[in-house]
Amino acid sequence: MRFIVRLLCLPVLGKSFLLLSPATLTTTKRSSTITAPPQQEKTSTLLYMNKKKSIKKKKKSKKVSSSPLGFTTGSTQQQKPPFPYAGAIRPGLQSPQKVVTDKEILKPDYADDGMPKNNSAPTLPLIIDVKTSEEIEKMRAAGRVAREVLDIGGRAIQVGVTTDEIDTIVHEEALKRGAYPSPLNYHGFPKSCCTSVNEVICHGIPDNRKLEDGDIINLDITCYLDGYHGDCSEMYVVGEADASTKKLLQATYDSWVKAMEFCRPSRDYKDIGAVIEDFVTREGFSSVRSFCGHGIGSVFHASPDILHFRNNVPNGQMAAGHTFTIEPVICEGSAQALLWRDEWTATTADGKLCAQFEHTLLITSDGTEALTGKIESSPLQFWEIESEVHRGFWLGNTKASKKKSVELTANAMKKKGVVAESW
Ligand code: MF3
Ligand code: CO
Ligand code: CO
Repeated sequence: MRFIVRLLCLPVLGKSFLLLSPATLTTTKRSSTITAPPQQEKTSTLLYMNKKKSIKKKKKSKKVSSSPLGFTTGSTQQQKPPFPYAGAIRPGLQSPQKVVTDKEILKPDYADDGMPKNNSAPTLPLIIDVKTSEEIEKMRAAGRVAREVLDIGGRAIQVGVTTDEIDTIVHEEALKRGAYPSPLNYHGFPKSCCTSVNEVICHGIPDNRKLEDGDIINLDITCYLDGYHGDCSEMYVVGEADASTKKLLQATYDSWVKAMEFCRPSRDYKDIGAVIEDFVTREGFSSVRSFCGHGIGSVFHASPDILHFRNNVPNGQMAAGHTFTIEPVICEGSAQALLWRDEWTATTADGKLCAQFEHTLLITSDGTEALTGKIESSPLQFWEIESEVHRGFWLGNTKASKKKSVELTANAMKKKGVVAESW
C-alpha cells in the first residue's frame, strides 16, 4: 500500500517515535492535486516514501547486528531506548536479502539500487494511465501469477512456520513463473512479500517469528511479469480464531467487496472511501487513513490514490482501461498507526487487531474485474461463504465475471464439502 502519511514526531521516553496521524491526508508526488482536510494540524512534517536515508542507515546497522547465522535484526534499536511497541509483536531476525540473478527474469528498474526511476516525476494535473488491450493482457498475466503465488504462500501458513519460510516459498514460486517479486528492494524493502501479523497494519517484514495458534496474518504478494505488476493480499487464520476476530475478518472482507462492487466507468475514485468507512463504522470498526490503494501497471504505485475513508479529494473518475488496487485495513480499535524503527512495519497505535484484503482491479466498459481474482485451485475461506455482501469468490461485477464466479464457487464448495442447502 502506499504511504500517504504525515509523520508526527512525538517525544516519548526522551526520544521520538513516529505516529501516523489518522486525520491525515497527504501530500504525495502529486501534492497539489490533493486538498488537505480542514482537521489537519499545521505542525506536522509531510513525507512521502522517502526511503533514501533508511537504506543507508540499514546498511550500517546490519554490520553492527550481524549474528553468527547471518541473521540481522533489520532495525537500528541497539543503542536506543526501548521502543514503545503497541502490542505483542516484535521485530524478529531477518535472513540475508535475496538477489535475483536469473537472466530470464525481467527486473523492475529499482531491483538493483532500490530506487524506482519512472514514477518520481509529478503528474499534474492528475493523469490516470489508460491501458491498451496488449497492456491489459500483460496485467492479467501478472495478476494471475500473483494469485497463484498468494494461494501457494497461503497454504503454507500454519502454526510453527516462520514468516521467513513463507517469504522463501513466495520468492521461489514467483521466479518459477518467470516473475520478479515486486517488494524485493522496492525503496530498499528487504524481502519478497509482506507478512503482517495481528496488529501489524501493513509492510510487515518476514522474519524468524513462528506463527502461533490464533494469529491472523495478511500475506501481500506483488509479482512483476513482462513489465507489469499484479498486487493482491488476503487474510489467513493460524489455527482457530475467536468470535470477535471472525467478526473483524468478515467486516473487512465485506467492506472491501462492497467497495469493489461500486466500481464502474464514470464513478469517482474518491467515493470508494465512504463505501468502506460507512460500512465498517456501522460494524463498530475503523478504517486506516495513513495508507491507501493505488494505480498500478508498469509502475508499482501510480495514480490515482485510493483512499479508504470518506473524503472529498479530487482523485479522478474511473474509465475503461484503468487499473488500480483497493486494499482497506480495518481495525478493531484505533485506526491510528505507529511506525516501527525499521521504517516499514506499521502497527495499530493501540496494539489491537486489524485486517486487510487487496485486489488489482481493471475497469472495463461494463464494470470492474479482479485481475488477481481467485482461480480454479483457490481455497474458499469462511468470510466468502458467510458474506452478506457477496457469497463465494468475488471476481468482478461484469456479466462475465459473475458467471465465472458461480462456476468456480460451486466447484470450490464441492471440494470443501459445503452442502447447497446451507449456502
Ligand atoms: N504490496 C504492497 C501494496 O499493496 C506494497 C509493498 S511495498 C513494500 O501496495 F516495499 F513494502 F514491499
Ligand atoms: Co497495493
Ligand atoms: Co499489496
